[in-house]
Amino acid sequence: MTADKPDLGTLEERAGVEIAAAGDLHELTAVRARYLGKKGSVAALLRSIGELEPSERGRVGQEANAAKQRIEAAAAARKGDLERAGREQVLASQRLDVSLRGTATRTGHLHPITHVTRDMVQFFTSLGFSIEEGPEIETEYNNFEALNIPADHPARDEQDTFYLDDGRLLRTHTSNVQIRVMAGRKPPFRFIAPGRVYRHDLSPRHSPMFHQIEGFLVDERVTFGDLKGVLYGFGRHLMGRDIELRFRSNHFPFTEPSAEMDYACVLCDKQGCAACSQHGWMEWGGCGMIHPKVLERCEIDPDRYQGFAFGMGIDRTAMLRYGIPQLRHLFEGDVRVLEQI
Ligand code: DAH
Repeated sequence: MTADKPDLGTLEERAGVEIAAAGDLHELTAVRARYLGKKGSVAALLRSIGELEPSERGRVGQEANAAKQRIEAAAAARKGDLERAGREQVLASQRLDVSLRGTATRTGHLHPITHVTRDMVQFFTSLGFSIEEGPEIETEYNNFEALNIPADHPARDEQDTFYLDDGRLLRTHTSNVQIRVMAGRKPPFRFIAPGRVYRHDLSPRHSPMFHQIEGFLVDERVTFGDLKGVLYGFGRHLMGRDIELRFRSNHFPFTEPSAEMDYACVLCDKQGCAACSQHGWMEWGGCGMIHPKVLERCEIDPDRYQGFAFGMGIDRTAMLRYGIPQLRHLFEGDVRVLEQI
């Protein structure tokens, strides 16, 4: 062994110290390269064996190889230790305290109007009615004229209707959908149209925006009896039991004959209570047989086809069902109120 090269024992000892001192895998790799790599100290030592006396070479070679294996083993053991320590550190830093109280997530729910509307839709789809929608911004023609509502009708007044600058208006009822559905199509028709409507109205019982549902059926040989049958079925579906209806003669320009309908108060059974303002009856909506003029405007022959239509508010039903005392509670969007429903 020449003086400038450390002997095997020293080399192995140094390697052992450095391996033990390697603080992470990166450092360990560097130590390995220094001792065990192609250009490392052990390789250099093995190369220098050729300079020894031939009689010495075998023994020194064996010793050197044995030392190399021990260094390898020490490095592998250190690697295992470092990896284990690393895993433990990660686990410790990500420890979950499963006993900690969680934060409850708030779940939302459908708006009462949406609930009631879906319930209404479900009844009519079961009867084979389709669901139609019309725009909330509508022409005077579709909202009034085509429905036979004369120019001097009070509903057309600016006191009642929101007009836009371009002459269009916010629809005052869902009856506009009748005209849109019939335009360019041929009977039979059977649909409902739920949606928002707008009127110049603000009081505890009225809101400038509210919801209506329109029902409409045109076919051959349709009678007022068919209309009553559908309405009784609808009422039973909504209230969950048989209801009593009352039809009061009325006038709507787009139906003839026309009737206003009430149902016997489901809270007091006609005894009179706060909900029905002591009347025993609750207003439900309007209905009638479609006026021949409306059919003619849509190029449908009134001698061959007849139909019925009805329209009623949705909001009142939601108030009744969920015990909501004020209409405005439905539209103010106050989550504290809606959460209670
Ligand atoms: N459009 C009427 C209103 O808003 C309600 C109505 C009455 C609709 C009679 C109809 C009907 O379809 O036949 O007051």
